[in-house]
Order: sequence, then structure tokens, then C-alpha cells
Amino acid sequence: MKIEINLGEAPARVSEILIGEDLMKDLGGVLHIALGNRSAFWIWDEAVWELWGNRTAELGWPIDTIEGRIILFTASEPEKRLASVELLARRMVSAGANRNSAIIAVGGGVTGDVAAFLASIYMRGIPCFQIPTTLLAQVDSSVGGKTGVDLPEGKNLLGTFHQPQQVYIDPGFLTTLPDEELRQGMAEVIKSAMIGDEVLWKFVESNSAAIKRRDPNTLARIISASCLLKAKIVEADEKESGRRRALNLGHTVGHALEKLTGFRLKHGDCVATGMVVAAELSRRIGKLHAEDLQRLESLCETWEMPVRIPASIKAQDIVGAVRADKKRIGDKLHFIIPVRIGEVIEFTEIDQGKFVEVLKALGAG
Ligand SMILES: NC(=O)c1ccc[n+]([C@@H]2O[C@H](COP(=O)([O-])OP(=O)(O)OC[C@H]3O[C@@H](n4cnc5c(N)ncnc54)[C@H](O)[C@@H]3O)[C@@H](O)[C@H]2O)c1
Ligand SMILES: [Zn+2]
Repeated sequence: MKIEINLGEAPARVSEILIGEDLMKDLGGVLHIALGNRSAFWIWDEAVWELWGNRTAELGWPIDTIEGRIILFTASEPEKRLASVELLARRMVSAGANRNSAIIAVGGGVTGDVAAFLASIYMRGIPCFQIPTTLLAQVDSSVGGKTGVDLPEGKNLLGTFHQPQQVYIDPGFLTTLPDEELRQGMAEVIKSAMIGDEVLWKFVESNSAAIKRRDPNTLARIISASCLLKAKIVEADEKESGRRRALNLGHTVGHALEKLTGFRLKHGDCVATGMVVAAELSRRIGKLHAEDLQRLESLCETWEMPVRIPASIKAQDIVGAVRADKKRIGDKLHFIIPVRIGEVIEFTEIDQGKFVEVLKALGAG
């Protein structure tokens, strides 16, 4: 499947997403054409290189044997920082990268965000290609052109918009992905379905077992649906001035939970709890049927995602963290809430007392 994101400006920019079982077998030829006469510099998550690197020769990928053109990066959230970008940039310079080069990022969201950020500023910008290898990166971070690194003060505080020229998604990579990481990506799939794809929702409800055993065909379907939805939203609102905010469903509270647990709770798990909070809020103000909330909770439970807030976290601290979040608009508490499975609205008039009630009802101290 091929999805195009048309970003209508002069000159027109198009970002393409190719999704397919066994796509990695065709990638040699595809990349040769896409790169043209550009020299490729590969930035690989070191862990992914160890698992998959030895297959690249047999797959015929244009991995140059010229020394220095494969750069290994030990991907982890603490390494997603400006110092890593500088280090990678210096390695590119010493290996001869110039304005006619391109970066190919292979790995999860951390590698993709760092490599794409580097591509956006290296000699004022060179093309970037993405080969995402986690489910989260395949359905979310590799699509849409947001790049960035963290500061000690907060996540993703430095960054750019730089659309990848092409994204190559092969669900085969997920065969080596640990279950816990698959679950983090599934939270974003469930989020996409809740935002705008009831068919995807039903598909996940009936095919969770096949997804868990990494059936490539089933994975390709959920990845395609999620990417298509994100692509449509990004096309309508690349820089997040309106519609793109829908993608933050579950993230306002999710980010607060990540922060308050010192990032011990993982992102997808926190987003799942955040979606339950948004849904309960919506139910209490009469905008969501109790039955839809129930379906959300039971789907999250199928995936062993937390649907309650740990009692050790105080409701007031969540309110504080939400208020400090960059996504807040003015003084009102502001949330994306579901109104049914497959549709969300932006609700800007949330009363703080009601929010605290919901947090406590869902387990917060
Ligand atoms: N740019 C965006 O729009 C956007 C959107 C969502 C998230 N993000 C960012 O994405 C990051 C999270 O991405 P992530 O969850 O992919 O994390 P990650 O890149 O840290 O990968 C998770 C773990 O999986 C390992 N891994 C990767 N592929 C593997 C494979 N095929 N087999 C086995 N192990 C594999 C990695 O080495 C790592 O240990 C965060 O920094 C977040 O801010 C960005
Ligand atoms: Zn997310």
C-alpha cells in the first residue's frame, strides 16, 4: 500500500509512506531509485542493527561499504538529546556527508526523531528516509514530519517540522519486538481508531490474538489504517494549529502520568489511562455512552494496558502537570474527548472540580 501526504505549497511537497509485508525485500531497488545520485548515510538503532544488520547484504540494500556511512546510535530516551545530534553530525562530516547526501533512519521513534532532526538542520537540511522498526514508530512517529530531541526540562522541546521523503514500513521487523513495546504501539493504534476509524476499532477488537502473534497481514492492516488516518489529519493541518490536535487524545493526562512517575510508566500505557480519563470525563458531561467507555476499558484490558491511575499519584499533582503542559490554551482546562468510537471533539470548558472528581474516581489519590 502507498499513502501520499500532499503538503500543498509551492514547490509542492509530497511525503510517501510505503507499507507492505516483505517490503524489506524490495527496498534495495526502491532506495536506489529514491536516492538517485545522493549518497546515503544510515543511522541505525544499534540494537536493531544487531538483530537485522546482517540481513541487509542479502536483501540488497544500498548500504555503502565506504567507512563511516553506517552510524550506530544507542537509542534510548535519555540519548534523545542535542549532544547526540552533534555527535552524529560530526560523524557525518568526517565520513564526507555533504548537501547532496541523505539520511536513512532505521529504528524506533527515538532514532527516527533524532535522525530526522539532524537531517532537517544538517547543512541547512537534507532529505530524510525512515525505516521504522517499532509499532509505535510505524503507526505514529515516522509519519507526519515532527522531529526533535528532549531537554532536561521536558520532552521534545527542541525540534523542527521536516517531512520524510519516504517512509518504508515492513511489519516483519515487529517479529523481534518485545511484547511490552508492541503494547506501546497498540495504544496509539487504539487512539487512532477512537479518533476516526470505527472499522479499525472493530478489527482490533476481533484480531488482538493475531496481532499479538505478529501475523504480518493483520499487522499490515492496522498499520495502514493508522497511517492513513494520521496522513489525512497531517495533510489538513501540518503544523498543528487545529485538527492535528485530535491526535493528542489521551496525551494531556498521559504526559502528566509519565512525568509524575519519572517515566517509569511507559508512554503508550500512560496514553491508555489518559484515554480512559478523557472518556470518563466525556461520559460524565453526557457526551459519551457508558457502553463506549466500557468497550475502551475492555480493549485496553485485552492488551494489559492500565485503565486506572495509581493511588500513589495525587489528583492535584495531575492537575498541576496538565496546567504546565504546553498544549494548554489560556486558563481553561482543555481536552480532546471521545463522543463515540470513531469521533472526538475538542472541549475547552472543562471545570477543574469535575476533572479532579474523575481522576479520583479512576484511582488517583
Ligand atoms: N515525531 C513524532 O511525531 C512522534 C510521535 C510519537 C512518538 N514520538 C517519539 O518516539 C519515541 C518513542 O519511540 P519508540 O517507542 O519506538 O521507542 P524506541 O525508539 O526507544 O524503541 C523502543 C525499544 O525497542 C527497540 N527496538 C526497536 N526496533 C526493534 C525491533 N524491531 N526489534 C527489537 N527491538 C527493537 C529499541 O532499541 C528500544 O529499546 C519517543 O521519544 C517519542 O517522543 C515521536
Ligand atoms: Zn503518543
